[in-house]
Amino acid sequence: EFIKELKGVTKIEEQLKHKLNLHHVVVVPGNSDELSWVKQEMGKACVRYMKQELKSNETIAVTGGGTIAAVAEMMTPLEKARNCLFVPARGGLGEQLENQANTICAEMAKKANGNYRLLYVPDPLSEESYQSIIGEPSVKEVLELIRGANIIVHGIGDAITMAERRKTPSDVMETIQNGNAVGEAFGYYFNQQGDIVHKVRTVGIQLEDLQHTNCVIAVAGGRSKAQAISSYFQQAQSNVLITDEGAAKELLKGN
Ligand code: G3H
Repeated sequence: EFIKELKGVTKIEEQLKHKLNLHHVVVVPGNSDELSWVKQEMGKACVRYMKQELKSNETIAVTGGGTIAAVAEMMTPLEKARNCLFVPARGGLGEQLENQANTICAEMAKKANGNYRLLYVPDPLSEESYQSIIGEPSVKEVLELIRGANIIVHGIGDAITMAERRKTPSDVMETIQNGNAVGEAFGYYFNQQGDIVHKVRTVGIQLEDLQHTNCVIAVAGGRSKAQAISSYFQQAQSNVLITDEGAAKELLKGN
């Protein structure tokens, strides 16, 4: 806390909380675009916040991506919250294994001494497969656990970076580009005004579901993600943001 005061980060947190109309904001010093340990600091800050909020027998849904992987890396046993369950928020979204929600969910659960359930679905899915897969009893059971999550922890990505990383087919890539998408979260791509330009069809949490969850934590930082973060919060579906100074200062420009 002392270091934060010294660096003036506390003031930035207040300004950002006000600007984005959020319940809570944490800004860690530094810019994670330049220094990788800043991402781990965001991870630590997220773990700290989760520990404050979590109660025994609760369910936590997590997305994929390198930032949430850093949260998993920094996770430590949940001493007060016993018997918690970790689930992936959505399907794999075409990510490599290390960036998939399933992988991160399992790692986080192990470090937390919690339990986990995984989703085994190929994706993106065609409309036809989607309908039949959500009817499968084993998938249905996990989907209900996901929908009932008490806490959701998710990343926000730069739209083009994410679309490229996920080997998005060229017709979809065109939709994303022509729609001027700048941000991505949960497999939804947003333009600067926060309109949805494209949505990857997969099972799990849909954007509408976030309204029914009291604690939705976005973890995203780096100066390069400022526009993406701002586009996502146009719809303000999450109530907590854990970010870094690099993104925060850029987000507050013109204030
Ligand atoms: O949905 C957003 C992405 O998962 C963010 O990925 O943390 O690797 O930038 P990243």
